[in-house]
Amino acid sequence: MSATDQASGHLHNPHGLPDIKPFRLGKHVLERPILLAPMVGVSDVPFREVCLQQGATLTIAEMLPADTAMWKSEKNRLRLRRTAACGPEIVQIAGFDPSMMAEAARLNADMGAEVIDINMGCPAKKVLKKAAGSALMRDPELVEQILRAVVQAVDIPVTLKMRTGWCRAQKNGVDIARIAEDCGIRMISVHGRTRECRFVGEVEYDTIAAIKQSIGIPVIANGDIDSPEKALQVLRHTGADGLMIGRAAQGKPWIFREIRQYLEHGDHARPPSASEISILMQDHICALHAFYGDFRGTLFARKHIDWYSKALPGGELLKSEFMQADCVTDQQDILQNWHREHLSLLTVVAAQTHQ
Ligand SMILES: Cc1cc2nc3c(=O)[nH]c(=O)nc-3n(C[C@H](O)[C@H](O)[C@H](O)COP(=O)(O)O)c2cc1C
Repeated sequence: MSATDQASGHLHNPHGLPDIKPFRLGKHVLERPILLAPMVGVSDVPFREVCLQQGATLTIAEMLPADTAMWKSEKNRLRLRRTAACGPEIVQIAGFDPSMMAEAARLNADMGAEVIDINMGCPAKKVLKKAAGSALMRDPELVEQILRAVVQAVDIPVTLKMRTGWCRAQKNGVDIARIAEDCGIRMISVHGRTRECRFVGEVEYDTIAAIKQSIGIPVIANGDIDSPEKALQVLRHTGADGLMIGRAAQGKPWIFREIRQYLEHGDHARPPSASEISILMQDHICALHAFYGDFRGTLFARKHIDWYSKALPGGELLKSEFMQADCVTDQQDILQNWHREHLSLLTVVAAQTHQ
């Protein structure tokens, strides 16, 4: 079933979600997009590729500091890599100085970025040693200066990622969203927690709904969306134009396909087969090895196997064996052996997980 009525350009949803108009972001027309959230140390090129293959509409790269002097580090050099396999190149920048942010945006646009996303969503202070990221929400005047400077600096769309406010007592998400729209921001993603809450406590979606009601640009809802049912519930509650998924995609990138199927067709997606899960895992780990090289590749691979193994009964066994391997070849051998030896077990698991 096509989710779009060609004549009206509106979506018709099997769950009775209200029709929404597809919207444009640069050259891309988006219909209830499901985005991979930017996550430092996670949303690298290999993971973005996997998520795109598994149904993510867009993937946002890990945040890049606006201070170009920091781009020479190995870590940031890799974050600057471009590849078409990640989909439209959305570069997230984090900083506190309007002219630095504008310059970083301009340079990234020159290097092929299709969208610049501004980080006011995560506690970037740790990285930048100064109040940036969500801490900026405490200072609406500075927010406005940054947004205006960046929007004026580039002729590609600029988007904003933010939280519901600075703290529970000062939930100024609606004010910041209005400022953003006024400055020419083209889409806002909102994590339903304040900066003060960090990742603790329940996400609240009322403020996201209030933001959606207050502005005319597309709003993407984010925070604790971990199943197709939750995705539907959040869309209903917020009226958002799309969703953003972060931690729930770790070790389960096919969640994008599951959510898409449920939202668009009203039923559950075919579960990934035993070999699909195992091959996906192997391909992902090989891509990490190729991207980061031996030393860092081995470390990053451990992190992802830790997540993948949680979804697999007997995964503990795989994990403990894998964590002891300290070179790329050993890690790949372990995965190949696991694939051979546990294929029948994986088949049962896949069937159970996706009933
Ligand atoms: C490990 C990790 C790294 C993150 N890095 C960023 C980042 O670079 N930029 C950003 O705006 N948000 C960052 N976030 C926040 C996520 O994008 C997202 O808003 C948050 O995890 C809530 O979504 P979720 O509940 O679906 O995970 C990060 C979150 C995590 C867990």
